Amino acid sequence: MPSAPASVPATQPLVIPLRTGLRRSPVETSRLLLVPIDAPDGQELWEAVDGSRWHLERWLPWVPYNNTPEASLRYAEACAVDWDAGRALRFAIRDKTSKGLLGVVGLDACVHLHRSCELGYWLRRDAVGRGLMTEAANGLLQFGFTRVGLHRIRCAAATDNLPSLRVIQRLGFHFEGIARQAELVGSRWLDHALFARLATDER
Ligand SMILES: CC(C)(COP(=O)(O)OP(=O)(O)OC[C@H]1O[C@@H](n2cnc3c(N)ncnc32)[C@H](O)[C@@H]1OP(=O)(O)O)[C@@H](O)C(=O)NCCC(=O)NCCS
Repeated sequence: MPSAPASVPATQPLVIPLRTGLRRSPVETSRLLLVPIDAPDGQELWEAVDGSRWHLERWLPWVPYNNTPEASLRYAEACAVDWDAGRALRFAIRDKTSKGLLGVVGLDACVHLHRSCELGYWLRRDAVGRGLMTEAANGLLQFGFTRVGLHRIRCAAATDNLPSLRVIQRLGFHFEGIARQAELVGSRWLDHALFARLATDER
């Protein structure tokens, strides 16, 4: 008689918190609020991207396509749809005092079967150099591991995107390798440095 498998790991699906509840009670860090993106954020997203075009388009391939306020509105609407489908959890980073939108941080490409996703982020030009992204991403990693039940969070940055690599280092990610010519940004192929953090990693 065939023997039973020794042990089958318990299936533990990701928990996707309700977007509407989190818009009322956002993820909080000492200086920031992380609020799920929805259609009303479209105009502020447009102003942030359009006011920081040069700073963003060196590293983010979608920036030239985000070329009208309507494009930002469509992106904001798609964020809400992706959230509700459990595909991606993207947050507006807001200043706790002024409530102004400073950038975006998100957990993209959620794979429920493997409890994994990819961290992505950007800040508007006038918000860099204050530790805000490290603070926002730390808050999001904590949220992802404890509330969503993620096991593995990947992150990639171009090998010459030094500010982003420093963020990743401060977040305690482990280096896993180089993906050659992983992304075409403008007319430039970018090599990616690949990193990950596991829920079980020591900090
Ligand atoms: C990547 C990006 C978010 C990094 O922004 P950043 O402001 O350098 O990162 P942080 O917000 O964590 O700030 C850290 C810097 O603030 C400084 N800082 C100043 N005051 C600080 C404070 N009170 N607390 C912590 N850090 C502080 C730190 O020393 C650090 O500077 P350093 O990296 O030169 O040592 C930003 O450059 C960006 O949006 N780039 C374009 C888009 C992009 O590349 N996205 C990532 C694609 S992989």
